[in-house]
Amino acid sequence: MKKFPNDFLWGGAISANQSEGAYLEDGKGLSIVDVIPHGQERMDYKLGLVPDLTLKSSNYYPSHQAIDFYHTYKSDIKLMAEMGFKVFRTSIAWTRIFPNGDEEKPNQAGIDYYQDLFKECHKYNMEPLVTLCHFDAPMHLVETIGSWRSRKMVDHFVKYAQTCFREFDGLVKYWLTFNEINILLHSPFSGAGLVFQEGENKDFVKYQAAHHVLLASSLATKIAHEINPDNQIGCMLAGGDFYPETCHPDDVWSALEKDRENLFFIDVQVRGKYPSYSKRLFKEKNIELVMEENDENLLKNTVDFVSFSYYSSRCASATMNQQSEANVVKSLPNPYLEKSDWGWAIDPKGLRITMNRLYDRYQKPLFLVENGLGAKDTVDENGQVEDDYRISYLNDHILAMNEAIHDGVEVMGYIVWSAIDLVSASTGEMSKRYGFIYVDKDNQGKGSLKRIKKKSFYWYQKVIENNGIHLE
Ligand code: BG6
Repeated sequence: MKKFPNDFLWGGAISANQSEGAYLEDGKGLSIVDVIPHGQERMDYKLGLVPDLTLKSSNYYPSHQAIDFYHTYKSDIKLMAEMGFKVFRTSIAWTRIFPNGDEEKPNQAGIDYYQDLFKECHKYNMEPLVTLCHFDAPMHLVETIGSWRSRKMVDHFVKYAQTCFREFDGLVKYWLTFNEINILLHSPFSGAGLVFQEGENKDFVKYQAAHHVLLASSLATKIAHEINPDNQIGCMLAGGDFYPETCHPDDVWSALEKDRENLFFIDVQVRGKYPSYSKRLFKEKNIELVMEENDENLLKNTVDFVSFSYYSSRCASATMNQQSEANVVKSLPNPYLEKSDWGWAIDPKGLRITMNRLYDRYQKPLFLVENGLGAKDTVDENGQVEDDYRISYLNDHILAMNEAIHDGVEVMGYIVWSAIDLVSASTGEMSKRYGFIYVDKDNQGKGSLKRIKKKSFYWYQKVIENNGIHLE
C-alpha cells in the first residue's frame, strides 16, 4: 500500500446523544433524542409523525443511560489512547450548555464537563473533533417554537455555538456545525426536531427549516473564525453516491437528482449560496422559501473542509419502488454487493468513487469522519470478541481511501464509527455494534456496562502505529 500523509488523523467517533446517558444530570435539559423510544414506533417518532412527545413509563428510552460515557469518559478515553487515536470525534449536547435552549446564561456544569473531557483528550495528544449538533436540539425549543421551523432557532443556535467557541477555545480547533445535515430531509424529527401537522406541505417545512439551519451554520462559521482564526470548520454530509440501476438515461438522471438532494446542503456550505438547480426544485415542490433581505449575505461564510460519513453506496432508478432495508436514505438493492446484518450494502470501491466526486465538485480537503460496520458481535467462552468481519470491512475501506488519496484527493483523516459500542441512531439497539470496544448492555438496557477490547481494537492499534495497513 502507498503511504498516508505524515500528519494523517486516525481516530474514532461517538456522539453525545448515543453514548453519554445522564440525560438529566448536572442541570442538563431534555433533548429530542431523549423522547425517542426503542421499539416499533421509533421510526414514526424520527419521521416527525408523533405529536405527543411526553415521556411514557411503558417506553424504554435508550439515550437516558446509553453507555454511561458521561461518567466513564476518563477510562474510555484511556482505551482510545491505547489504540493510538490521533483524533477523537464527539459532539456536545446542546442541552448541557443551554438546558432549555433560550436561557440568558449557560449552565456552568455542562461547560466544566466538556472542558474536562477535552483536556483528557489532550493529555494523550488526541485532537478533539467536535460536532455542535449531532441529531440534537432542546425539547423546550421544539415545544415552544417548533424547533428549526422558526427563524428564532438561528439566534439560539448561534448563541450556543459562540459560547462553545469561547469556552473551549484552545482546547478544540476542529469543529463541525451539523452532523449529517442532509438527514434533515430523511429523518426530520431526529435530524431537526420537526413534527408535522396534518395536511401541511412537508417539503416546504423541511426546506424552510433547512434554510434556517444553513443560516445558523454560516453564522457559526463566521464567529468561529473571528474568535480564533486557527479554528477549522467543516460541514458534514451523510455520504454515499447513488448509482443508476441501469444505463437508461432516465435512471442516470434519477441518480443525479438523488445525489443533488443530499449535496444541496454542502453546495450552500461550500459555495456560500444556493445552487442554481434549487429554483426549479423549489418550484416543483411548491416551496416558496421565506427569506429576509440580507439572507444571501448571511450565507456567505464558507467552510474550511468537507467532512462526510460513508457506510455504503446507494442505487436509484426512475421507477424506484423497492427499497433497501433499515436505512433512512432510501436506496434500491444493488445485486453486485454483499450486505451487512442490517441490510446495508458493503462497497469499498464506492468510497473511492464518492471521495473523487466530492473532491472534484468542491476542491476542499475532505475528512472521512464516520465509516464502520454495524454487526451482531458476541462474546465467546474465553471472553473474547472475534470481529474479523469488521476488520475486513475497515481494511477494504482504508485501502479504497488510500487509492482516492493517490487519485489526488486531499484527505485530512479517517475516523471510524464507532470508537466504542453505543446506541444505534436508526434502530435504538445496542446489538447493532460498531465499536472497537464491546460494551456489555442489551437492547432492553440490561448489562454490566463492562468494556471488552475486541480483536479489531488490536488491529486498529497496528494500523495507526504503521500509519496505514500493516503488511505482515
Ligand atoms: C450516522 C450517524 O448516520 O450513522 C450516527 O451520524 C449513526 O449517529 C451512524 O449512529 C450509524 O447508523 P446507525 O443507525 O446504524 O446507528
